[in-house]
Amino acid sequence: MALDDRKGVWKSGKGKGRHTTKGRQLDDTAHAQVVVLLGDAPRRADLLIEFLHLIQDAYGHLSAAHLRALAEEMRMAQAEVYEVATFYAHFDVVKEGEAVPLALTIRVCDSLSCELAGAAALQKALTDGLDADQVRVVRAPCMGRCDTAPVLELGHAHIDNATVEKVTAAIAGGHTHAHIPDYETFETYTANGGYMALAALRVDGNWEDVQAKVKASGLRGLGGAGFPSGTKWGFVRGNAGTRYIAVNGDEGEPGTFKDRYYLERTPHLFLEGMLIAAWAVEADKAFIYMRDEYPAVLHILAVEIKKLEDAGVVPVGYIDLRRGAGAYICGEESAMIESIEGKRGIPRHRPPYVAQVGIFGRPTLVHNVETLLWVARVCREGPEVLNSVERNGRKGLRSYSVSGRVKNGGVYLLPAGSTITDIIAAAGGMADGHVFKAYQPGGPSSGLLPASMHDIPLDFDTLQPHGTFIGSAAVVVLSTGDRARDAALNMLRFFEDESCGQCTPCRVGCEKAVKLMQADTWDQDLLTELSTAMVDASICGLGQAAPNPIKMVMTHFKDEI
Ligand SMILES: Cc1cc2nc3c(=O)[nH]c(=O)nc-3n(C[C@H](O)[C@H](O)[C@H](O)COP(=O)(O)O)c2cc1C
Ligand code: SF4
Ligand code: FES
Repeated sequence: MALDDRKGVWKSGKGKGRHTTKGRQLDDTAHAQVVVLLGDAPRRADLLIEFLHLIQDAYGHLSAAHLRALAEEMRMAQAEVYEVATFYAHFDVVKEGEAVPLALTIRVCDSLSCELAGAAALQKALTDGLDADQVRVVRAPCMGRCDTAPVLELGHAHIDNATVEKVTAAIAGGHTHAHIPDYETFETYTANGGYMALAALRVDGNWEDVQAKVKASGLRGLGGAGFPSGTKWGFVRGNAGTRYIAVNGDEGEPGTFKDRYYLERTPHLFLEGMLIAAWAVEADKAFIYMRDEYPAVLHILAVEIKKLEDAGVVPVGYIDLRRGAGAYICGEESAMIESIEGKRGIPRHRPPYVAQVGIFGRPTLVHNVETLLWVARVCREGPEVLNSVERNGRKGLRSYSVSGRVKNGGVYLLPAGSTITDIIAAAGGMADGHVFKAYQPGGPSSGLLPASMHDIPLDFDTLQPHGTFIGSAAVVVLSTGDRARDAALNMLRFFEDESCGQCTPCRVGCEKAVKLMQADTWDQDLLTELSTAMVDASICGLGQAAPNPIKMVMTHFKDEI
């Protein structure tokens, strides 16, 4: 239809005619602000989440005007920008007329170890005690510091063993930035022989020899699935053309903090392992997807990657550090890849597997942070570093993240055949006044086992006969003062919050389960039926494993329900 003759009328019609294009109009000021923030960064769709972070960091929220301006800059539909921004918990989207969040946010962790340590009372005390006009107090899932529960994040500063007094003092002192711990720098690492293994391989190494070493060591994926690492390299290499490596640093499984532990101490051991694996599969680029809950790690990696570039260990831009935005599901490898591509973290259907069709449709080797750290150690010290350790018929070492009712929570590197008895002993025994009752062997996805099952080696494959698995080895210990049913409810609430919502059995199943589990007496038939539907029909591991805590309570803690 021809444009109306009247000046400024966009489109004539039966009504008065519009003076603008349809929808939300571009605000020139907001647009100029976004242009400044983005600078000369390429307006690539995969960088959308990075750009949303820039705006959120600068203004403390994402206004509708800024989202509109970003869509304009990116040449994307507003709906696309909006759906990504609203998917991630760390973005505060504020539409016209809505209140802007306060400058300071406190996120109180309410996952299991923090709940055991009194997170609910802490959150209430903070909400009651602090000025609601100054500080916003919200709940948040596990921050990977479960050994110092209860934990909260004030701005970007984490407060361990948090109390109202500590928070008040931190606010008064303006301590809202991440504390950077002492760690092994590039200079120290190289002075101790670091990157020599990588350099030697790059000169005349044979990738199949390295693969054979990794296989001989028995190294399996430490993100939770336990897939043999060397075998995976072969799958990725088997595909021609451009290949990528992507590091999974999402570490969102509550109770898990081993990756953070290592990254805050020996980041280069991991980086060398990553570069060896990248060399082995001839990756064109290495992506590191690091969770936003680890600001210190993000800082350390940014600084140390720059040093690698300056020293010529990698070309500038070869390592692409990406920042998550608060979504547990982005730890699932295909959801992580979606997120790296700048989209909502929604798991893909498989096949094809990411080793064939990964980032930008190219074969991608995905590894957990700790897996890569062991690749470096196997190359530097030989396969014996893992395969010479034996206990209870199991070989290798396992980094157990231990928290809950133990004296000294922390990461303990123990033989992979260790039992919960060994692990509690390593953690200094039970906390004073607590008697061992139950344990979560590997994150909420693994459910709970009773203290009577104290002699099972906690390794890959050993827990399957008992209806569970070791996963990321996130061990949470409960005592006789705790109720298993409360712990299971905490776990299901987590899954309810974190379900990506793509499939009905998981989205609705988690929500219904939480409701049913709050009844004094559980409707066990209904919960069993619901669990079966979730296991059988959910697309990814989240929905398939979410019923585990329910099933384990019905099996081992019947008297509570
Ligand atoms: C719901 C869900 C969450 C996951 N979260 C993580 C995670 O935070 N970190 C991780 O390394 N792997 C996680 N995984 C496993 C990854 O999908 C993948 O198996 C792993 O990153 C592969 O690396 P690996 O072979 O070195 O373990 C998760 C899986 C599922 C189903
Ligand atoms: S199982 Fe849950 S998290 Fe996984 S795809 Fe389905 S809805 Fe999303
Ligand atoms: S930091 Fe709170 S449970 Fe992990």
